[in-house]
Amino acid sequence: MEKVKAMILLLSCISLLSVRVNGIGANWGTQTSHPLPPDTVVQMLKENGFSKVKLFDAEDGTMNALKKSGFEVMVGLPNDMLRTLATSVKAAENWVSKNVSAYVNDGVNIRYVAVGNEPFLETYNGSFLQTTFPALQNVQGALIKAGLSNQVKVTIPLNADVYQSSTGKPSDGDFRTDIHDLMVAIVKFLSDNSAAFTVNIYPFISLYSDSNFPVEYAFFDGNASPVVDGSNTYTNMFDANLDTLIWALKKNGYGNLPVIVGEIGWPTDGDMNANTQYAQRFNQGFMTHISTGRGTPMRPGPIDAYLFSLIDEDEKSIQPGNFERHWGIFTYDGLPKYQLNLGIGNSSRGLVKARGVQYLDKKWCVLRPNIALSDSRLADTISYACSNADCTSLGYKTSCGNLDTRGNISYAFDNYFQKNDQDDVACDFSGLATTTNMDPSTGTCRFGIMIVVDDASSFKLPQFGLLVFIFVLHLLLTAL
Ligand SMILES: *[C@@H]1O[C@H](CO)[C@@H](O)[C@H](O)[C@H]1NC(C)=O
Ligand SMILES: *[C@@H]1O[C@H](CO)[C@@H](O)[C@H](O)[C@H]1NC(C)=O
Ligand SMILES: *[C@@H]1O[C@H](CO)[C@@H](O)[C@H](O)[C@H]1NC(C)=O
Ligand SMILES: *[C@@H]1O[C@H](CO)[C@@H](O)[C@H](O)[C@H]1NC(C)=O
Repeated sequence: MEKVKAMILLLSCISLLSVRVNGIGANWGTQTSHPLPPDTVVQMLKENGFSKVKLFDAEDGTMNALKKSGFEVMVGLPNDMLRTLATSVKAAENWVSKNVSAYVNDGVNIRYVAVGNEPFLETYNGSFLQTTFPALQNVQGALIKAGLSNQVKVTIPLNADVYQSSTGKPSDGDFRTDIHDLMVAIVKFLSDNSAAFTVNIYPFISLYSDSNFPVEYAFFDGNASPVVDGSNTYTNMFDANLDTLIWALKKNGYGNLPVIVGEIGWPTDGDMNANTQYAQRFNQGFMTHISTGRGTPMRPGPIDAYLFSLIDEDEKSIQPGNFERHWGIFTYDGLPKYQLNLGIGNSSRGLVKARGVQYLDKKWCVLRPNIALSDSRLADTISYACSNADCTSLGYKTSCGNLDTRGNISYAFDNYFQKNDQDDVACDFSGLATTTNMDPSTGTCRFGIMIVVDDASSFKLPQFGLLVFIFVLHLLLTAL
């Protein structure tokens, strides 16, 4: 009998998981030196059961791969275009024509335009305060003119720092004082146009920037000492943060404005709190949390969210921190970093890796064994390698933090070598380096082999294929 009960419970949990999460989205960023082919990414998104993607621009390759894919798409308009679109109705119309209408006509299911990306971040020093709202208005005007305003909605993905609570209680939430009136005007505009508020929420950043932040409060296990706010009790930061926004909206007369969680996730490297254990715990906790469909105390019901991020990006700015290049639930080459049950489609079996990824040779670049660590040329070559490649996996409590000094140097050399497509010239370093076919990876530290980039792979025939091709061509020509 107990077994039957357990079985029924299990089954109902499974059906809850598959029914209530009516589609989790993924952020698909492309600030990477070696992007996976867009078709490979779209296939991977499908096989993992995603139904929505959020982009940071409208690159042609990405958009073409999304044609007739069925995915709901949020296209992005980068911050550096805000000024142009704010000052020129014509520019906004061109943008919508080229980057929305044309693709919609080709079968891309565009549902949102993200105008800017976290433009009011305090670290931007107000650079986009004057231009974001006018750009939003011009894009909306252009969507109306293009006859798309019913199916395509504007929004602005904002960082959670646009609102705050002086006491930490959600009910004391309101918009940041320096942008309060601007925020209310934007919220009114979104509401008037049946659009949604998009917010990015990052418990990891709270932990990263405040050593006193209670670790358990970042997660969803209910172990944190609760924040009590009237009749509501919070044991995770996500709920409290989202409700701070709901209170801010409510206080200004827009308590029912739909909210999209534009980015949520946890990085796996580059900081002592960025590792696969924490990332899995956070993302799985989040998926399980939203799969209940209960929402938050102030906003009961399903939560519309996009995980950040799908794939690591080795060219993201590390100004906010070394973790920036490690947000992916997949590595640069489309391998799952940890098990994650998204509760949708086939993913109850865990994440599915990208198919048909093409790698360069099994070759690495390392410090020559006979070079003494006292060699005076080392410091400059390491800093050259690290400033041109990616050394964010080296450092205290990172995935390669346990390498010895020689391993450290080899990691830097190899990363530069791989990033430069294993070009022999990129493994010289004044004669300090040499190539090897022995994988130097150890434990958590991966010396990854670089992937073949799309342009090259689609035109490069394998040696044998090329010979056959030339031979057939020869036969054809001689037959004429
Ligand atoms: C799920 O798995 C089945 C069986 O392996 C396969 O036929 C189907 O195409 C998969 N669905 C998706 C969305 O990948
Ligand atoms: C369309 O988007 C792309 C990629 O973000 C951008 O480079 C281009 O300038 C945009 N086109 C127009 C007409 O604004
Ligand atoms: C913002 O101001 C600080 C201090 O003046 C400066 O270091 C930083 O580079 C500025 N950031 C931007 C994006 O302008
Ligand atoms: C390895 O490199 C990192 C980053 O440059 C540095 O912080 C660390 O101290 C180095 N470790 C050793 C053993 O040299």
